[in-house]
Amino acid sequence: MASPYDWMDTELAQLQTSNMRRSLRVRQSPHVAGLVQVDGRQLVDFGSNDYLGLSSDSRLVDAVRHAAGQHGWGAAASPLIHGHGVLHQKLAQTLANFKRTESALLFPTGFAANVGCISALMGKGDHVFSDEKNHASIIDGCRLSGATIHVYRHCDPSDLQAKMQTVQPSKKLIVTDSVFSMDGDIAPLPDICEIAEKYHAMIMVDEAHATGVFGIRGSGVCELLGVEDRVAIRVGTLSKALGSVGGFVAGSRSLVDLILNRARTEIFSTAQPEAVCAAAIEAIAIIESEPERRQRVLQLADRFRTQLKQAGWNVGNSASPIIPLLLTNIGEAVQWHQRLLEQGFFVPVIRPPAVPANQAMLRLSLTASHTDEQVERFLQIRLS
Ligand SMILES: Cc1ncc(COP(=O)(O)O)c(C=O)c1O
Repeated sequence: MASPYDWMDTELAQLQTSNMRRSLRVRQSPHVAGLVQVDGRQLVDFGSNDYLGLSSDSRLVDAVRHAAGQHGWGAAASPLIHGHGVLHQKLAQTLANFKRTESALLFPTGFAANVGCISALMGKGDHVFSDEKNHASIIDGCRLSGATIHVYRHCDPSDLQAKMQTVQPSKKLIVTDSVFSMDGDIAPLPDICEIAEKYHAMIMVDEAHATGVFGIRGSGVCELLGVEDRVAIRVGTLSKALGSVGGFVAGSRSLVDLILNRARTEIFSTAQPEAVCAAAIEAIAIIESEPERRQRVLQLADRFRTQLKQAGWNVGNSASPIIPLLLTNIGEAVQWHQRLLEQGFFVPVIRPPAVPANQAMLRLSLTASHTDEQVERFLQIRLS
């Protein structure tokens, strides 16, 4: 008799046939000096979000060791029940200072921050306006909220305005990534702020890929584009340039207090270990004292992007350390991925749903620890 679980193998076979089946690779080393060991081979690693090279920095590792010795490992409960310790408090304050907001609240991950914040703030009868290329966690937060969702064309303020005009006065939220996670382009935040102000809408910006990388102080694209005071809801993650794990929202005391009381991903999930917070606190201190890290990764990305274009690659509108190599189909992307592996480069294939259906890309991401030589070697690869 057929098993009620047979359908799983059928679906996996379908994924395989359409080049859509993903699998885990075992990484045998951290990202160090632009390199990573995978399947026993040392590869140039263009697959991490470790933009500043902090994920294996000895200062973060020492901070974790020291904090685990003092505070133990697990947080043992959700923040409101019993899980909020002195290092959680210190990190929340450090993030608020870094983002120049009154307050900040930690979440177990950036994904949980987006889902929790949007579903806490919005509900049935409200209207959310979301960029079509926003991260999956924003999309899920919008769906979970029960609000009416208006998806506007990617980075297109005129489409946002057109959609805004169709909605009667009500509670409205515009939500966008600042740096888009796959295309590496930057949202036109000043124009979006103008529309929000005109139509009396709230704005939430996810700075997951910008925190630590953009702005004189390194706090993100809101700082770079001078809209810190106009964006009231600022979400981020500790998992990328900060080399750690966890998410956060920064904003006014009322915003943070309301989210603390309403966000189910906060209320019903165990807090991160305090030692994780120690790593993030150390990372922010490094970001503040070593601006050369962000300068390095941005300069390297600029140069690499220009040279990739000259070599015939389509890199879209990337303006960050994330550089997509846009391809016409998944088969082509998988072939390129294999070919690059053979030549010593790890560059992940991005398939739907991370990109729209029938699109594919290789996603190159640069870090401050890549060398000029690694980039030069990639550019020697022939396109045909
Ligand atoms: C734009 C964006 N927001 C949020 C997240 C989720 O962050 P985390 O990895 O901390 O869950 C990601 C990570 O993939 C992201 O790219």
